[in-house]
Amino acid sequence: MASPSATPARFFNLDERDYAAAEQRCRALLARMTLAEKVGQMSQFTSDRDTTGPSIREGYQDDIREGRVGSIFNAFDADFTRQLQTLAVNESRLGVPLLFGYDVVHGFRTIFPIPLAMASSWHSEGVEAAARVAATEAAAAGIHWAFAPMVDVSRDARWGRVMEGAGEDPLLSSRMASAQVRGYQGHDPRALDSVAACVKHYAGYGAAEAGRDYNSVDLSERVMRSVHLPPHQAAVNAGVASVMTSFNTVDGVPASCNALLLRQILRDEWQFRGLVVTDYTAIMELLEHGVAADPRDAARLAVNAGVDMDMQDGYFLDHLAELVEADDVSAARIDEATLRVLILKDVLGLFEDPYRYCDEAREAAALLAPEHRRKAREMAQQSMVLLENNDLLPLSPAPQRLAVIGELADSRADLLGPWHGDGQAQDARTLLAALKDRLSGAEVCYHAGVPIDIDDTASRQREIAEAITIAQQAEVAVVVVGEKEPMSGEAASRTDLGLPGQQLALALAVIASGTPTVVVTLSGRPLVLSELTAALTGQSAALLHGWWPGSEGAEALVDLLLGDVSPCARLPMSFPRNVGQLPLYYGQLPTGRPVFRENPDPRYSSKYIDSPNTPLYPFGYGLSYTHVDYATPQLDKPTLTGPNDQLTLSIELTNTGERDGVEVVQLYLRDPVASISRPIRELIDFQRIEIAAGARERISFVIRAEQLGFIGSDLRWRCEAGRFELHIGAHVEDTQMLTFDYQP
Ligand code: GLC
Repeated sequence: MASPSATPARFFNLDERDYAAAEQRCRALLARMTLAEKVGQMSQFTSDRDTTGPSIREGYQDDIREGRVGSIFNAFDADFTRQLQTLAVNESRLGVPLLFGYDVVHGFRTIFPIPLAMASSWHSEGVEAAARVAATEAAAAGIHWAFAPMVDVSRDARWGRVMEGAGEDPLLSSRMASAQVRGYQGHDPRALDSVAACVKHYAGYGAAEAGRDYNSVDLSERVMRSVHLPPHQAAVNAGVASVMTSFNTVDGVPASCNALLLRQILRDEWQFRGLVVTDYTAIMELLEHGVAADPRDAARLAVNAGVDMDMQDGYFLDHLAELVEADDVSAARIDEATLRVLILKDVLGLFEDPYRYCDEAREAAALLAPEHRRKAREMAQQSMVLLENNDLLPLSPAPQRLAVIGELADSRADLLGPWHGDGQAQDARTLLAALKDRLSGAEVCYHAGVPIDIDDTASRQREIAEAITIAQQAEVAVVVVGEKEPMSGEAASRTDLGLPGQQLALALAVIASGTPTVVVTLSGRPLVLSELTAALTGQSAALLHGWWPGSEGAEALVDLLLGDVSPCARLPMSFPRNVGQLPLYYGQLPTGRPVFRENPDPRYSSKYIDSPNTPLYPFGYGLSYTHVDYATPQLDKPTLTGPNDQLTLSIELTNTGERDGVEVVQLYLRDPVASISRPIRELIDFQRIEIAAGARERISFVIRAEQLGFIGSDLRWRCEAGRFELHIGAHVEDTQMLTFDYQP
């Protein structure tokens, strides 16, 4: 685990001199502001532009004119944001420009695969490039502030928002968080394609009990710091400009009034200097949590705990001035929060030119630019995970008679996934259309199969029989099953992770038809695919998990199915055998009665009597169209001595296949004896390498003491002497072990 940061986090890539200059300018403005104007800067409202135009609150124009709004979200496009900005700049007393925020989570108009899919690429540079495209398009549409990256570590696929994060592992989530912050914020906050990023949701939201969205989170502080905070800290260390608080309680205290999170850890330990905004109406929700007696109390608790901006509920606007007059909130706290808002606007250049992001020509050129579509297609190719392939894929030579089955095969909207910004279904093609286009000379027959969200076995026999018929008339069948877009995402927790409706029956029937069958699963989360996987055994069949692949997802799917590109993705989250195993993750503690691989069935051990403990598909797993052999790994010495020493692990890889490939080499640590029980595996590094057909590549990993450390029961980071195991391989259940000693 990374040790606590020793130096102040860079804010939005500013060096100290530029930060100080911005602060000085903003302090001069702050001195001219009334208390009411300061409180206005701390207030953010939505503009429901896609309904009846802006509907921030009744009389929104007056709110802006009278300086009662510091930021608006869900407002975009160059023209509309210019209208709103003109009100603020020309008609309010001090002309402080508005800050426009929006959920740009996996693309703005060109939609990339959902973040959990992008994490499957393990490709930091690719994820950074995706965020760069998203920032370029969002900034061209008038947006200054992206509410991303979402970095919630989650080990419970019942929680619908796993689709927004990077899965179960703190290190992979941290690498994805840093890459996105770099991508959104660019190198210069004043660049016209830079937007402020906002790491969310701080903190622990992904550990909602029972996988039920918005539910309580009860973790030890040690687990919070070891598992859930590292990606947030990685974002802070990458210079993230803002943090968004989460809806959940942490050990009984809601995150939006949690001084341990917002002051001690974020400010004192990490030395974060940016802005803290709440999630949507999270201050109002302090009443429901039962920690605030009334709105005034809720506003007091939140602002005194360290919240700088109130999203949507207006409690700051309604109560902060009076709280200051009653001395329940200090004027200094209001100044501190207001200054952070002003500094963010200053470093974005909004005081110099409030309209610099409102440029219709730049907007027209940026949205859906061919280069953006190309990058989205490339990322989609790299994010789809090949789970099974019984010598069927790639379909090369291409089939002359193809059956395409399933409602999702003819859907565009479901490819985009939730939080798809301003992405439009019409910008995407369906898999069916893309296949017909690419197989122009072939006969492609389609059947929608069974309606996804209707679960009535009886009346589906006809559809299934029809689907079997077209499958039997084809050389190959492609069955597309999974979730429709509303079945994952916010407020979409599920207790059953199987294929919704009668899709499993449909897929099993097509597999049993005797026609070689490719099953493509689309979803926002890991699904329970045990019966499907069992049915594929011994058949000429394959299983490709496409997640929700974005605007270019259909093209990317065809690229993979026809073999133009080889799959190279690896799972960022374990796929369970059944929902009863959840929460499920590779980095579990050994327990006092572990199940040993060589003797998996001792009665009195930590196991189930009706299922193996292991996932159906483990963390880090994924197939490709080639095969890479791992030679025996070597260490350059047997002992690591002191905090400044390093070990080098080297290993030779050989691509024994006939196709070029990409290998994600994963390095896990085990600390078998320590002052607390340590996980059976911890990812401490990985390398994503391209390896040509027949080529040998020798790669090495440098291991340092800081990678051996952990947070002890005293909550202090430590690195203890002893023997350590390194496990290197293609996924967490396929590794070779080495040992070494660490002497402090
Ligand atoms: C939502 C989400 C958060 C989002 C915010 C604004 O409820 O929890 O991720 O940024 O509201 O849309």
